[in-house]
Amino acid sequence: MTADTPTILILGRNGQVARSLEEQLIAHGRTVVKVGRPEVDLCDPSSVSRVIRVARPAWVINAAGYTAVDRAEDETQAAFAANAIGAQAAALAASEAGAPIIHFSTDYVFDGTKAMPYVETDATSPLGIYGQSKLEGEQLIAKVNQQHVILRTAWVFSPFGANFAKTMLRLNRERPTINVVDDQHGNPTYAPDLADIVCRIIARLSESPSDQNNFGIFHAVNNSPTTWCGFAQAIVEGAAQRGAPHATVNPITTKDYPTKAERPKYSVLSTNKLAKVYGVRLRPWQDALSDALDRLIGRRNEKPSHRLQQDFG
Ligand SMILES: NC(=O)c1ccc[n+]([C@@H]2O[C@H](COP(=O)([O-])OP(=O)(O)OC[C@H]3O[C@@H](n4cnc5c(N)ncnc54)[C@H](OP(=O)(O)O)[C@@H]3O)[C@@H](O)[C@H]2O)c1
Repeated sequence: MTADTPTILILGRNGQVARSLEEQLIAHGRTVVKVGRPEVDLCDPSSVSRVIRVARPAWVINAAGYTAVDRAEDETQAAFAANAIGAQAAALAASEAGAPIIHFSTDYVFDGTKAMPYVETDATSPLGIYGQSKLEGEQLIAKVNQQHVILRTAWVFSPFGANFAKTMLRLNRERPTINVVDDQHGNPTYAPDLADIVCRIIARLSESPSDQNNFGIFHAVNNSPTTWCGFAQAIVEGAAQRGAPHATVNPITTKDYPTKAERPKYSVLSTNKLAKVYGVRLRPWQDALSDALDRLIGRRNEKPSHRLQQDFG
């Protein structure tokens, strides 16, 4: 680690965003160190501070977090420990090392009562513990490190880890019909696209580190909102085009599929601020989904690859 190879420290080892970041940053020629549990645990803030103090990175990206939305209702303390206190520890240690922090938050900071895309300045009012813990994380980070970029994202999918797209592909193989909620609206977001945005943000901040406009909260989601059902239908259709079965996706209502945590009915995010400040906009999720399915299954009209069988078998 030298002054001419600024190191980017990623918190979070196996998560979908962490793995996408590692892939994209290395492809952009960056030096990356990725750390995670058990050595670095957000619920043990001293482990977070220690690793940042020792590594002295030029950048800290916190891609770790407590992401189990329903379980959080029963594990309030763990959710706040990781998403609020742990995130604050990362931001503070980054600040002490003179490093900006890039952090991820969620559309679930909103209650979903708005009828048009949420902007960054809209009032927050999370419906559940997960959203509350993420909101507190945003606020604590902003207090301790002025050089923060908080990217609120949503409905993340990728070739990595556990996510809705991979669950739908498994159900598509196992069942003739799948019931999916059709009255919650949001933006499916491809983790590698999000990682690409982070690469651009780092490039910009490296050029103009003192421009305060570049810091703050930004919404970063793929374009073109849909419902979970619309997303599921596209996944199943894309899978069928690649030789997989084609289950019927039935629209149902949230009432028909009760969950422990209440979700916003409408959490579509406007990305105009990101476009204005950084000059970037994420593509429509449909294009990103096609890339994801190419990686997970194989290209259109090809036989499903062995990787699919292993990943979902
Ligand atoms: N997934 C979504 O739909 C979504 C939507 C909006 C915002 N976000 C935000 O985006 C960020 C990344 O999410 P993701 O989709 O990549 O989540 P993910 O796939 O569930 O990965 C979460 C990561 O956090 C790590 N982690 C969890 N608790 C930890 C702890 N106490 N200490 C250290 N590491 C811990 C996990 O570590 P292990 O590998 O050890 O399990 C994993 O690497 C999170 O801040 C999340 O809130 C995600």
